[in-house]
Amino acid sequence: MCGIVGVTGNDNAVKLLIHGLEKLEYRGYDSAGIYVNDQDGHDYLVKRKGAISNLKAAITPDVHGSTGIGHTRWATHGGVTVENAHPQFSQDDRFYLVHNGVIENYKELKKEYLSDVKFTSQTDTEVVVQLVDHFVVTEGMDTRDAFLKTISLLKDGASYAFLLMDREQPDTLYVAKNKSPLLIGLADGFNVVCSDSVAMLNVTHNFLELKDGEVVTVKPDSIDIEDSEGNHVERKPFYVDTDPSEADKGIYPYYMLKEINEQPNVLRKLSQKYLSEDGQSKIDPKILEAMKAADRLYIVGAGTSYHAGLVGKNMFEKLVGIPTEVEVASEFAYADPLFSEKPFFIFLTQSGETADSRVVLQNVTKRGFPTLTITNVQNSTLSREADYTLLLDAGPEISVASTKAYTAQIALEAILAKSLGESLGLKRAADFNLRQQLGLVATGMQAVIDEKDHFDEVSKQYFVEASKAFYIGRGIDYYVSLEAALKLKEISYIIAEGFASGELKHGTIALIEEGTPVVAIATQAKTASLTRNNLEETKSRGAKTFTISTESLAEDGDDIVLQDVDEMLTPLLSVVPAQLLAYYTSLNKGLNVDRPRNLAKSVTVE
Ligand code: F6R
Repeated sequence: MCGIVGVTGNDNAVKLLIHGLEKLEYRGYDSAGIYVNDQDGHDYLVKRKGAISNLKAAITPDVHGSTGIGHTRWATHGGVTVENAHPQFSQDDRFYLVHNGVIENYKELKKEYLSDVKFTSQTDTEVVVQLVDHFVVTEGMDTRDAFLKTISLLKDGASYAFLLMDREQPDTLYVAKNKSPLLIGLADGFNVVCSDSVAMLNVTHNFLELKDGEVVTVKPDSIDIEDSEGNHVERKPFYVDTDPSEADKGIYPYYMLKEINEQPNVLRKLSQKYLSEDGQSKIDPKILEAMKAADRLYIVGAGTSYHAGLVGKNMFEKLVGIPTEVEVASEFAYADPLFSEKPFFIFLTQSGETADSRVVLQNVTKRGFPTLTITNVQNSTLSREADYTLLLDAGPEISVASTKAYTAQIALEAILAKSLGESLGLKRAADFNLRQQLGLVATGMQAVIDEKDHFDEVSKQYFVEASKAFYIGRGIDYYVSLEAALKLKEISYIIAEGFASGELKHGTIALIEEGTPVVAIATQAKTASLTRNNLEETKSRGAKTFTISTESLAEDGDDIVLQDVDEMLTPLLSVVPAQLLAYYTSLNKGLNVDRPRNLAKSVTVE
């Protein structure tokens, strides 16, 4: 949530900042701004409401500089206005600050220290920049000490990634982070700072991670990291092995369509990475050893990742025979759960930055429980902080609505469950030819994707005019229904519910009216006919029904028939029509598919 970038020591700072913000736009797109300084006494602040394209259009040729900071906002405190956009600045125009996070005690600090200051925004961030100014101007501190003092006043647990500039030291970026992600990039003759490496891959692949509580002074030719005790820290950079072109839209009108299309390849790559040609596991044996000792698995995630966890439960219980609980991170974090004696925690998180999931990780780490993060982002916070990491390697997912990360998470759960079951000597796991099955899934996905024009038509017939819609199913079909409904609601704004089909008649069927779209997912032999009965019940009450089934369970009149694969893996196929239906509904309603209102890709506040 919110993306920040900084550059020091490059005469093209404006261009680099704008490019970085464009790459970070997925983190928030309410408003954006930059501040740049050219070292010769000229500086510029430009802020605009809305997308980065609005900011870009407002930058006149005279706006230039070699050091600067930029921000794309997902509003927390204060509405979407130019005044509330970042950079925020001090009353004497000396200090400029961008911030990703939330300062909980900003009202108290304002009252205690800044009662004479005239504020121009409603943000928590402005309090921070005015405080720095207060300590410098009123109390005579130097900028670094004022920055440190200000940070020390923030309530324990505040989340922030800050980039501060002092007009009187125009080549210096003061940087600090707690809970919110931030990286320093080492470029050729200059340095950069960013919330996500994707913002600066055009100038460097070498990044330094920052740890919570650290404060850094970045100049064109030096980086000074200090930990929370004031010790100077030496740190080696890590290499980010991502091709910057992977983060481009290429020939596609929207990232979401590109990412849906990438799914068959992502699965093939994942299968090759973690399974040998003859199907043997290549998962790190240390992870399997740690999991073997567990008496219960807990899968933790938020949103789409939580939905992927629900599908995984079935795999771990069937292939490993180990009780598995799936938990919504934001609930689990404060639920005081009763744990089994030897739990093992799996965190599913595309971004590796979700604050809700991180709180759970920190809680269970404190109790000494073993943890694994399954993520798409190398070196992300949850990856660094868990005992083990497995990477999805799905390539950057830029569209706010998650697609390929969901299917990659499910495929990796299947690989992990099979590997663990096999290492425990379980026949069902050993006999499960997952490498072959994932090959079939990839082909089946491709077949659905090849029919995408059909979904364009269906979206017009079923959804574009609808104000509400339902996806229904039982067991794992129900879990896919939850994901299908989430996709539809988040990008088309139709009120959509994923529902356990048997539960409809216990109340919710009252919502069915003439023309209400109801989609049934029926891919499981044990429950398909029951789901069909429930769909029929809605049809008798006027619903416009649609059925997704598999070849072996298909009946005349089914709308989408998926290729047969092992029943545990059908979610990998049945979700694809739902992704495409959501995509085309959003498109046909004239909405911004990749940037739905009110959302951000990486949710770094609780
Ligand atoms: C929906 C979506 C979100 C994320 C959720 C968790 O399409 O993308 O529901 O799944 O915010 O994010 P990660 O997986 O990064 O922890």
